[in-house]
Amino acid sequence: MSIVYLNGEFLPKDEARVSVLDRGFLFGDGVYEVIPVYGGRLFRLEQHLDRLDQSLVGIRLANPHTRPEWRQIIGQLVELQGGGDQSVYLQVTRGAAPKRDHAFPADVRATVFAMSSPLTPNPPEVAQQGVAAITLEDIRWKYCHIKAVTLLANVLLRQQALDGGAVESILIRDGEVTEGAASNVFIVRAGELLTPPKGPFLLPGITRDLILELAAANGIPHREAAITEADLASAAEIWVTSSTREILPVTTLNGVPVGNGKPGPQWTRMAALFQAYKECLRSGEAN
Ligand code: PDD
Repeated sequence: MSIVYLNGEFLPKDEARVSVLDRGFLFGDGVYEVIPVYGGRLFRLEQHLDRLDQSLVGIRLANPHTRPEWRQIIGQLVELQGGGDQSVYLQVTRGAAPKRDHAFPADVRATVFAMSSPLTPNPPEVAQQGVAAITLEDIRWKYCHIKAVTLLANVLLRQQALDGGAVESILIRDGEVTEGAASNVFIVRAGELLTPPKGPFLLPGITRDLILELAAANGIPHREAAITEADLASAAEIWVTSSTREILPVTTLNGVPVGNGKPGPQWTRMAALFQAYKECLRSGEAN
């Protein structure tokens, strides 16, 4: 039975209870993080906690914990799961008010929940064949930089990809790529790695930032620049990136092969750099 954290207590998952009046349940009024753990070590914990701070500022909710408290809660949770490779989920909502009302409640304590599940590696077919993606209109709101639990649009968009036999939807707003339904997007064009710049229309992905850092450290030409729908359609390579899926090479877009329809050489190189980084993390030489 896995152990979760809820409002100051570690307890078995089946015993954790949240009020039906919790604003996360009623309004989707909360934010979250997903943090990978490799060999019992947290991947970029400080960056994830910085983003959590930003998300909380974005929804005007005071952070219920200091940085050392967060480190303690998350570290203990990871230990309780026995180390190894995990995916930590943490969520903060605006708590349970005595009655349902859109207005922020006064004197209500935020609900803090965290759990961790085994992190399953991508199946080997991914590196051999890549994955399929589709493009869809980005129907979401204008605060996509906030990692809000209000994910209905993302859920519907991702499911549309799955229904069509693809793994991800790449979202287009006003003719430009924003991100995936649950990932960031990169393309390779004329040997250069491109990803859209940060802003209100996409989540500032922690995996995205590491890829840009690895590109800079290894002399791989890269740039943050707008990617049009036409750029996407003619890209030599397309990748989607996230904490749970690392870097996925997209080899089919809307049923059409990307490049030669196989994971490209730049993906192979970046995937190797990413795996090397993970090994450093496992041995305590990176964070
Ligand atoms: N989602 N964009 C969106 C909309 C996402 O939901 C995610 C990740 C990302 C990638 O961010 P990062 O590299 O920091 O994981 C980009 C997580 C994994 C989720 O919702 O489960």
